[in-house]
Amino acid sequence: MLYQNLYIENADTTSDIRVTDGKFEEIAAHLEPREGEECVDFGGKLALPPFIESHVHLDTCLTAGDPVWNMSGTLFEGIECWSLRKEKLTKDDVKERVNRVVRMYAANGIQHIRTHVDVTDPKLTAMEALIELREELKDVMNIQIVAFPQEGIESYPNGRKLMEDAVRMGADCVGAIPHFEFTREYSVSSLNFAMELAEKYDKLVDVHCDEIDDEASRGLETLATRALESGLADRVTASHTTAMHSYNNAYVQRLMRLLKMSGINFVANPLVNTHLQGRIDTYPKRRGITRVKELRANGINVSFGHDDIFDPWYPMGTGSMRDVVFMGLHVCQMMGYEDIRSSYNFISNNAARTLHLGDKYGIAAGRPADFIVLDAKDYYDALNTNAPVLASVKGGVKIAASIPGTKKALF
Ligand code: FE2
Repeated sequence: MLYQNLYIENADTTSDIRVTDGKFEEIAAHLEPREGEECVDFGGKLALPPFIESHVHLDTCLTAGDPVWNMSGTLFEGIECWSLRKEKLTKDDVKERVNRVVRMYAANGIQHIRTHVDVTDPKLTAMEALIELREELKDVMNIQIVAFPQEGIESYPNGRKLMEDAVRMGADCVGAIPHFEFTREYSVSSLNFAMELAEKYDKLVDVHCDEIDDEASRGLETLATRALESGLADRVTASHTTAMHSYNNAYVQRLMRLLKMSGINFVANPLVNTHLQGRIDTYPKRRGITRVKELRANGINVSFGHDDIFDPWYPMGTGSMRDVVFMGLHVCQMMGYEDIRSSYNFISNNAARTLHLGDKYGIAAGRPADFIVLDAKDYYDALNTNAPVLASVKGGVKIAASIPGTKKALF
């Protein structure tokens, strides 16, 4: 199969891509079609490695308004709404919603998802459903599962056991939520436990870290220190880290050295944290997003996630990572020309590092033939015009495309 005339990752000139047996065979400025070879001429469109959702909660997706709407829009009313919805949770219910939302993502060119799944449920219903879905949906989506203790590890009955059970069931990553634990001591011991669990079972780590406007919430320094000392390094991710927005600059200056040494990744969630943070402020009102620009300036890996899609905490979302980048560039004030042009990295190459996809990802000879084509010449244009996905190719097979002007998918 020969795909012709594609601007690969904002290149100045077009290339042709030959795919054989589900892999990129060769990529060059011009490739002669072989006898009988099928050709698709895109006539100068943008090709990117597939988009990646590096932080979402699939188990809560598509539940907004069921059974009640979050009228204040706050995190705490969201938790109340979710506790009512959680009572109705069944495996079939989770599977039906996740199937729908994965198709929404696929239509927007996403091929990899890291989902956090709440394990503060004695039955581990959602975890069981997601582990089955990971296998059932693998032809359209690579799903990575984080055992996520929504109500704490040390502060929830049998929290440690539920975490270990979820990992034994097949979770790919260990989570934690240090800022939600009852005490500073619990916060530190929950992080120690999570890191030891990851080492014991050879798993990645992704912590909901300091997702609060409290400048005294400092789980991050503990997480980064453990990542450094254990050697887990870039196998560790700090998600949200919104308290860093409120830290004083002298502290951040010291912290940044540790963060660089530790090698950990960061995930910011611009849509949801812009909406949920700063709620207790009058004016000035904090934006509550972590220091993305400063982390990048220090060479630290940062990706962007959607976090929630149409659930008690975020009443919107269509599974479009473009919307996430669009908001992220605004609230982080990264609107320079090169910032905008290269911003697809937040939902592709940077996220691939966080998910540890290695050489399974990227448009290069010998790698799996996974890529997307957008109806634009470069990502500046694609972002600004909300360009439709003309094709999402996975393993050499076209799995999805968006229908221009709608939010529907073609399969
Ligand atoms: Fe989250």
